[in-house]
Amino acid sequence: MAHKAVGIDIGGTGIKGAVVDVSTGKLLTDRVKLPTPEGGEPQDIVDTVDRVIKKLGKISKREPVGVCFPAVVIKGRTLSAANVSKRWIGLEAESLFEKNLNRDIHFVNDADAAGYAETLYGAAESAKGLIIMTTLGTGIGTAIIYRGVLIPNAELGHIELEGGDYEAKASYAAKEREDLSWADWAARLQKYYSALEAYFHPDLFIVGGGVSKEYQDFLPLLTLDTPIVPATLRNNAGILGAAALAAGK
Ligand code: BGC
Repeated sequence: MAHKAVGIDIGGTGIKGAVVDVSTGKLLTDRVKLPTPEGGEPQDIVDTVDRVIKKLGKISKREPVGVCFPAVVIKGRTLSAANVSKRWIGLEAESLFEKNLNRDIHFVNDADAAGYAETLYGAAESAKGLIIMTTLGTGIGTAIIYRGVLIPNAELGHIELEGGDYEAKASYAAKEREDLSWADWAARLQKYYSALEAYFHPDLFIVGGGVSKEYQDFLPLLTLDTPIVPATLRNNAGILGAAALAAGK
């Protein structure tokens, strides 16, 4: 297994990357970040990822490169596009990247990468059993990890509650859009996590996404049987998880 890999995290606003030591979860380079191109079209994103990798310095062709993206990814093909251009639906994303960047790429869902990283290096490092990672951002990303094994492409952000896709109500973007107070947003999160708890009975919830650094404003407002903790890897979780998965860790 490789010890060094590149992780790239494609998000709604930025595309971030770094070289990672996958045995320790430490970044070996500074983090490079470029804005996500307007419209999020596949070719524009590929070109930006290429620029991010070039800014990381000389990366040998043998070095694994993991890329995470906000969509269901099955065998390198993106099957959904909740908050990105619809052109990603059904796209052979992994081979598009491989062709353009002229190297092997490992393409995965963003929340899966972040959740897996938290179990390897972060908030769930020593946790056993069933872990559900949720990222609260533009959408709600989720990852299910059971005894260290990632069960990929869980799309629990889109569960139906109150007659609709609950991501639209409980994501951080919804809080911003509707200018919700912490208490009002927490009331929605309460419904959301209670539903996940009722369906899955996990041992631990981890809450990631940019807003998780303000966890004191909303996590104490939730009443759950399951422990719920903030992610510890913050903005680096996607990079670390994409690199680790690419390296076969
Ligand atoms: C997408 C997921 C993604 C999440 C976080 C959701 O809208 O459906 O695939 O993981 O947003 O980016």
